[in-house]
Amino acid sequence: VLCWFYVFPGYRLPRDKDIVAEVLRQGDVWRKNQTGIDLYRDLLTKCCNPKKMFAVTKENSPIGKVLWYDGEIYHSHTVNSETYQLFIKRRGAASSCRRCAVVGNGGILKGSKKGKEIDHHHYIFRCNLPPLSREYVEDVGTKTHLVTANPSIIEKRFQNLVWSRKTFVDSMKVYGSSYIYMPAFSMAPGTDPSLRAYFALTDVPSNLTMLFANPDFLLSVSKFWKAHGVHARRLSTGLFLVSLAMGLCDEVTTYGFWPFSVDLDEQPISHHYYDNILPYKWFHAMPEEFVQLWHLHKSGILRMKVGHCS
Ligand code: CDP
Repeated sequence: VLCWFYVFPGYRLPRDKDIVAEVLRQGDVWRKNQTGIDLYRDLLTKCCNPKKMFAVTKENSPIGKVLWYDGEIYHSHTVNSETYQLFIKRRGAASSCRRCAVVGNGGILKGSKKGKEIDHHHYIFRCNLPPLSREYVEDVGTKTHLVTANPSIIEKRFQNLVWSRKTFVDSMKVYGSSYIYMPAFSMAPGTDPSLRAYFALTDVPSNLTMLFANPDFLLSVSKFWKAHGVHARRLSTGLFLVSLAMGLCDEVTTYGFWPFSVDLDEQPISHHYYDNILPYKWFHAMPEEFVQLWHLHKSGILRMKVGHCS
Protein backbone atom coordinates (compact mmCIF):
# COMPACT_ATOMS: atom_id res chain seq x y z
CA VAL A 1 0.00 0.00 0.00
CA LEU A 2 2.71 2.44 0.98
CA CYS A 3 5.45 1.76 -1.53
CA TRP A 4 4.48 4.79 -3.62
CA PHE A 5 6.01 6.94 -0.90
CA TYR A 6 9.41 5.85 -2.01
CA VAL A 7 8.72 6.81 -5.61
CA PHE A 8 8.09 10.45 -4.79
CA PRO A 9 11.35 12.01 -3.58
CA GLY A 10 12.71 12.72 -7.07
CA TYR A 11 9.27 13.27 -8.45
CA ARG A 12 8.24 16.37 -10.44
CA LEU A 13 4.89 17.84 -9.51
CA PRO A 14 2.24 17.46 -12.24
CA ARG A 15 0.70 20.58 -13.77
CA ASP A 16 -2.82 21.68 -12.72
CA LYS A 17 -4.11 20.35 -16.05
CA ASP A 18 -2.64 16.89 -15.43
CA ILE A 19 -4.10 16.80 -11.92
CA VAL A 20 -7.55 17.64 -13.30
CA ALA A 21 -7.19 14.86 -15.90
CA GLU A 22 -6.09 12.38 -13.23
CA VAL A 23 -8.97 13.27 -10.89
CA LEU A 24 -11.48 13.01 -13.75
CA ARG A 25 -10.00 9.65 -14.77
CA GLN A 26 -10.58 8.33 -11.25
CA GLY A 27 -14.15 9.71 -11.23
CA ASP A 28 -16.37 8.73 -8.31
CA VAL A 29 -14.66 5.38 -7.79
CA TRP A 30 -13.59 4.94 -4.17
CA ARG A 31 -13.25 1.66 -2.33
CA LYS A 32 -12.62 1.69 1.41
CA ASN A 33 -9.47 -0.21 2.36
CA GLN A 34 -9.85 -1.16 6.02
CA THR A 35 -6.43 -2.85 6.18
CA GLY A 36 -4.83 0.31 4.77
CA ILE A 37 -6.74 2.52 7.22
CA ASP A 38 -5.62 0.40 10.19
CA LEU A 39 -2.05 0.29 8.94
CA TYR A 40 -1.93 4.02 8.45
CA ARG A 41 -3.42 4.68 11.89
CA ASP A 42 -0.70 2.43 13.36
CA LEU A 43 1.98 4.36 11.46
CA LEU A 44 0.65 7.68 12.71
CA THR A 45 0.29 6.37 16.25
CA LYS A 46 3.90 5.17 16.23
CA CYS A 47 5.32 8.42 14.92
CA CYS A 48 3.06 11.02 16.47
CA ASN A 49 0.55 9.48 18.90
CA PRO A 50 -2.29 11.84 17.90
CA LYS A 51 -4.71 10.55 20.55
CA LYS A 52 -2.48 11.47 23.48
CA MET A 53 -0.24 14.14 22.04
CA PHE A 54 -2.17 16.44 19.71
CA ALA A 55 -2.94 18.99 22.44
CA VAL A 56 -0.96 20.25 25.41
CA THR A 57 -2.65 18.60 28.40
CA LYS A 58 -2.00 18.42 32.13
CA GLU A 59 -1.17 14.77 31.52
CA ASN A 60 1.50 15.19 28.82
CA SER A 61 2.83 18.59 29.98
CA PRO A 62 3.24 18.76 33.77
CA ILE A 63 4.82 21.74 35.55
CA GLY A 64 8.50 21.90 34.63
CA LYS A 65 8.04 20.31 31.19
CA VAL A 66 9.94 22.23 28.50
CA LEU A 67 7.80 22.88 25.42
CA TRP A 68 10.20 23.43 22.51
CA TYR A 69 8.57 25.55 19.81
CA ASP A 70 8.26 23.57 16.57
CA GLY A 71 8.44 26.61 14.28
CA GLU A 72 11.29 28.40 15.99
CA ILE A 73 14.93 27.51 16.62
CA TYR A 74 15.89 27.09 20.29
CA HIS A 75 12.81 28.78 21.69
CA SER A 76 10.95 27.15 24.54
CA HIS A 77 8.42 27.65 27.29
CA THR A 78 8.78 25.84 30.58
CA VAL A 79 5.36 24.98 31.94
CA ASN A 80 4.75 26.85 35.21
CA SER A 81 1.81 26.98 37.60
CA GLU A 82 0.20 29.80 35.56
CA THR A 83 0.31 28.11 32.20
CA TYR A 84 -0.43 24.65 33.63
CA GLN A 85 -3.86 25.76 34.80
CA LEU A 86 -4.79 26.72 31.22
CA PHE A 87 -4.31 23.18 29.93
CA ILE A 88 -7.12 20.66 29.70
CA LYS A 89 -6.81 17.58 31.89
CA ARG A 90 -6.42 14.92 29.24
CA ARG A 91 -6.90 14.67 25.51
CA GLY A 92 -9.66 16.89 24.19
CA ALA A 93 -11.30 15.44 21.11
CA ALA A 94 -13.67 12.51 21.41
CA SER A 95 -11.67 9.32 21.77
CA SER A 96 -13.70 7.35 19.29
CA CYS A 97 -14.84 9.38 16.32
CA ARG A 98 -16.41 7.33 13.61
CA ARG A 99 -16.95 9.19 10.35
CA CYS A 100 -15.01 12.45 10.29
CA ALA A 101 -14.90 15.32 7.82
CA VAL A 102 -11.88 17.58 7.51
CA VAL A 103 -12.96 20.75 5.74
CA GLY A 104 -10.22 22.74 4.00
CA ASN A 105 -10.88 26.28 2.80
CA GLY A 106 -10.37 25.74 -0.95
CA GLY A 107 -12.36 27.76 -3.51
CA ILE A 108 -13.55 24.43 -4.95
CA LEU A 109 -16.19 24.45 -2.17
CA LYS A 110 -17.88 27.56 -3.60
CA GLY A 111 -21.10 26.42 -5.26
CA SER A 112 -20.43 22.79 -4.28
CA LYS A 113 -23.62 22.36 -2.21
CA LYS A 114 -21.74 20.00 0.10
CA GLY A 115 -23.02 21.60 3.31
CA LYS A 116 -25.60 18.94 4.22
CA GLU A 117 -23.22 16.10 3.42
CA ILE A 118 -20.48 17.67 5.57
CA ASP A 119 -22.89 18.17 8.47
CA HIS A 120 -23.81 14.47 8.39
CA HIS A 121 -20.42 13.44 9.77
CA HIS A 122 -19.95 12.52 13.42
CA TYR A 123 -16.99 14.84 13.83
CA ILE A 124 -16.14 17.92 11.75
CA PHE A 125 -12.74 19.61 11.68
CA ARG A 126 -12.32 23.09 10.16
CA CYS A 127 -9.34 25.34 9.53
CA ASN A 128 -8.52 28.91 10.60
CA LEU A 129 -11.88 30.14 11.92
CA PRO A 130 -13.52 30.06 8.45
CA PRO A 131 -16.70 32.04 7.72
CA LEU A 132 -19.87 29.98 8.19
CA SER A 133 -22.34 32.79 7.53
CA ARG A 134 -25.61 32.19 5.73
CA GLU A 135 -24.22 32.75 2.24
CA TYR A 136 -21.78 29.81 2.68
CA VAL A 137 -23.90 27.32 4.63
CA GLU A 138 -25.21 25.45 1.59
CA ASP A 139 -21.64 24.78 0.45
CA VAL A 140 -19.76 24.21 3.71
CA GLY A 141 -22.35 23.30 6.35
CA THR A 142 -22.94 24.66 9.82
CA LYS A 143 -21.49 22.17 12.32
CA THR A 144 -18.01 22.22 13.82
CA HIS A 145 -16.38 20.08 16.49
CA LEU A 146 -12.81 21.35 16.26
CA VAL A 147 -11.59 24.47 14.51
CA THR A 148 -8.03 25.75 14.31
CA ALA A 149 -7.18 29.39 14.93
CA ASN A 150 -3.90 30.82 13.76
CA PRO A 151 -2.54 33.47 16.18
CA SER A 152 -2.09 35.81 13.19
CA ILE A 153 -5.90 35.86 12.80
CA ILE A 154 -6.21 37.11 16.38
CA GLU A 155 -3.73 39.87 15.60
CA LYS A 156 -5.07 40.91 12.22
CA ARG A 157 -8.81 40.24 12.33
CA PHE A 158 -9.30 41.04 16.01
CA GLN A 159 -6.55 43.67 16.60
CA ASN A 160 -4.83 41.35 19.11
CA LEU A 161 -7.96 41.53 21.29
CA VAL A 162 -6.96 44.87 22.72
CA TRP A 163 -10.27 46.56 21.81
CA SER A 164 -12.30 43.79 20.29
CA ARG A 165 -12.78 40.99 22.80
CA LYS A 166 -16.57 41.17 22.44
CA THR A 167 -16.41 41.05 18.63
CA PHE A 168 -14.16 38.02 18.94
CA VAL A 169 -16.36 36.19 21.45
CA ASP A 170 -19.48 36.99 19.40
CA SER A 171 -17.94 35.79 16.17
CA MET A 172 -16.89 32.51 17.83
CA LYS A 173 -20.55 31.65 18.45
CA VAL A 174 -20.90 30.12 14.97
CA TYR A 175 -18.58 27.32 16.12
CA GLY A 176 -21.09 26.21 18.77
CA SER A 177 -19.48 24.20 21.53
CA SER A 178 -16.42 23.11 19.62
CA TYR A 179 -12.74 23.06 20.47
CA ILE A 180 -10.61 25.98 19.30
CA TYR A 181 -7.18 24.54 18.51
CA MET A 182 -4.35 27.11 18.62
CA PRO A 183 -0.62 26.63 18.02
CA ALA A 184 0.30 28.74 21.05
CA PHE A 185 3.78 27.24 21.37
CA SER A 186 4.88 27.06 17.72
CA MET A 187 6.26 30.52 16.96
CA ALA A 188 7.31 33.06 19.60
CA PRO A 189 4.97 35.87 18.42
CA GLY A 190 2.00 33.46 18.55
CA THR A 191 2.02 32.81 22.30
CA ASP A 192 0.66 36.13 23.50
CA PRO A 193 -2.33 36.29 21.07
CA SER A 194 -3.18 32.66 21.91
CA LEU A 195 -3.24 33.36 25.63
CA ARG A 196 -5.32 36.49 25.02
CA ALA A 197 -7.81 34.40 23.03
CA TYR A 198 -7.93 31.89 25.89
CA PHE A 199 -8.75 34.59 28.45
CA ALA A 200 -11.25 36.32 26.14
CA LEU A 201 -13.17 33.03 25.92
CA THR A 202 -12.95 32.06 29.57
CA ASP A 203 -13.78 35.49 31.02
CA VAL A 204 -17.33 35.24 29.66
CA PRO A 205 -19.80 32.35 29.62
CA SER A 206 -18.79 30.43 26.50
CA ASN A 207 -19.39 26.91 25.22
CA LEU A 208 -16.04 26.76 23.47
CA THR A 209 -12.95 25.04 24.85
CA MET A 210 -9.48 26.24 24.02
CA LEU A 211 -6.91 23.59 23.17
CA PHE A 212 -3.27 24.48 22.64
CA ALA A 213 -1.56 22.41 19.94
CA ASN A 214 1.31 20.37 21.33
CA PRO A 215 4.53 21.45 19.55
CA ASP A 216 5.96 17.92 19.95
CA PHE A 217 2.98 16.58 18.00
CA LEU A 218 3.27 19.23 15.27
CA LEU A 219 6.98 18.53 14.92
CA SER A 220 6.52 14.77 14.68
CA VAL A 221 3.77 15.19 12.05
CA SER A 222 6.04 17.51 10.04
CA LYS A 223 8.82 14.94 10.14
CA PHE A 224 6.41 12.19 9.13
CA TRP A 225 5.32 14.04 5.98
CA LYS A 226 8.85 15.23 5.20
CA ALA A 227 9.93 11.60 5.16
CA HIS A 228 7.09 11.03 2.70
CA GLY A 229 8.14 13.75 0.29
CA VAL A 230 6.37 16.92 1.45
CA HIS A 231 8.99 19.65 1.49
CA ALA A 232 7.64 22.93 2.83
CA ARG A 233 8.71 25.48 5.38
CA ARG A 234 5.56 24.55 7.20
CA LEU A 235 2.83 22.00 6.56
CA SER A 236 -0.55 23.47 5.80
CA THR A 237 -3.08 23.58 8.63
CA GLY A 238 -5.23 21.15 6.66
CA LEU A 239 -2.53 18.48 6.55
CA PHE A 240 -2.01 18.71 10.33
CA LEU A 241 -5.75 18.18 10.76
CA VAL A 242 -5.93 15.28 8.31
CA SER A 243 -3.07 13.61 10.21
CA LEU A 244 -4.93 14.15 13.48
CA ALA A 245 -8.20 12.86 12.03
CA MET A 246 -6.56 9.74 10.59
CA GLY A 247 -5.25 8.97 14.07
CA LEU A 248 -8.64 9.48 15.75
CA CYS A 249 -11.34 8.49 13.28
CA ASP A 250 -12.59 5.29 11.69
CA GLU A 251 -13.13 6.98 8.33
CA VAL A 252 -11.92 10.37 7.09
CA THR A 253 -13.37 12.41 4.22
CA THR A 254 -11.82 15.69 3.14
CA TYR A 255 -13.60 18.63 1.51
CA GLY A 256 -12.13 21.83 0.13
CA PHE A 257 -8.63 20.47 -0.45
CA TRP A 258 -7.86 21.70 -3.97
CA PRO A 259 -4.89 24.08 -4.18
CA PHE A 260 -5.18 24.66 -7.92
CA SER A 261 -6.25 27.62 -9.96
CA VAL A 262 -8.92 25.84 -12.01
CA ASP A 263 -11.77 23.49 -11.14
CA LEU A 264 -12.57 20.16 -12.80
CA ASP A 265 -14.18 21.99 -15.74
CA GLU A 266 -10.93 23.94 -16.06
CA GLN A 267 -12.71 27.14 -15.02
CA PRO A 268 -10.71 29.58 -12.87
CA ILE A 269 -11.47 29.40 -9.14
CA SER A 270 -10.46 31.44 -6.10
CA HIS A 271 -7.96 30.14 -3.54
CA HIS A 272 -10.51 30.16 -0.70
CA TYR A 273 -14.28 29.73 -0.84
CA TYR A 274 -14.60 33.20 0.72
CA ASP A 275 -11.67 35.17 -0.82
CA ASN A 276 -8.74 34.91 -3.17
CA ILE A 277 -5.83 35.73 -0.85
CA LEU A 278 -2.98 33.43 -1.78
CA PRO A 279 -0.53 31.96 0.76
CA TYR A 280 3.07 33.22 0.86
CA LYS A 281 5.02 31.56 -1.91
CA TRP A 282 7.39 28.83 -0.67
CA PHE A 283 5.76 28.74 2.80
CA HIS A 284 3.41 25.83 2.16
CA ALA A 285 3.61 23.07 -0.42
CA MET A 286 -0.12 22.47 -0.87
CA PRO A 287 0.06 20.89 -4.36
CA GLU A 288 2.66 18.40 -3.05
CA GLU A 289 0.40 17.68 -0.10
CA PHE A 290 -2.52 17.17 -2.46
CA VAL A 291 -0.60 14.56 -4.44
CA GLN A 292 0.15 12.64 -1.22
CA LEU A 293 -3.48 12.81 -0.09
CA TRP A 294 -4.70 11.81 -3.52
CA HIS A 295 -2.66 8.63 -3.31
CA LEU A 296 -4.28 7.87 0.03
CA HIS A 297 -7.63 8.47 -1.68
CA LYS A 298 -6.76 6.06 -4.48
CA SER A 299 -5.61 3.50 -1.92
CA GLY A 300 -8.95 3.74 -0.07
CA ILE A 301 -7.30 5.10 3.12
CA LEU A 302 -9.12 8.42 3.11
CA ARG A 303 -11.69 9.90 0.81
CA MET A 304 -11.25 13.24 -0.95
CA LYS A 305 -14.28 15.07 -2.26
CA VAL A 306 -13.15 17.52 -4.89
CA GLY A 307 -15.84 17.73 -7.53
CA HIS A 308 -19.49 18.68 -7.43
CA CYS A 309 -20.66 15.06 -7.55
CA SER A 310 -17.73 13.01 -6.22
O1 CDP B 1 -3.27 28.30 7.18
P1 CDP B 1 -3.23 27.74 5.80
O2 CDP B 1 -2.64 28.69 4.79
O3 CDP B 1 -2.55 26.42 5.81
O4 CDP B 1 -4.74 27.38 5.39
P2 CDP B 1 -6.04 28.09 4.72
O5 CDP B 1 -5.69 28.85 3.50
O6 CDP B 1 -6.84 28.75 5.76
O7 CDP B 1 -6.83 26.76 4.27
C1 CDP B 1 -7.05 25.69 5.16
C2 CDP B 1 -6.52 24.42 4.56
O8 CDP B 1 -7.28 24.05 3.41
C3 CDP B 1 -5.08 24.53 4.06
O9 CDP B 1 -4.19 24.35 5.13
C4 CDP B 1 -5.01 23.46 3.01
O10 CDP B 1 -4.73 22.20 3.59
C5 CDP B 1 -6.43 23.45 2.43
N1 CDP B 1 -6.55 24.23 1.18
C6 CDP B 1 -6.44 23.56 -0.03
O11 CDP B 1 -6.16 22.36 -0.07
N2 CDP B 1 -6.64 24.25 -1.20
C7 CDP B 1 -6.89 25.56 -1.19
N3 CDP B 1 -7.09 26.19 -2.37
C8 CDP B 1 -6.96 26.26 0.03
C9 CDP B 1 -6.79 25.57 1.21
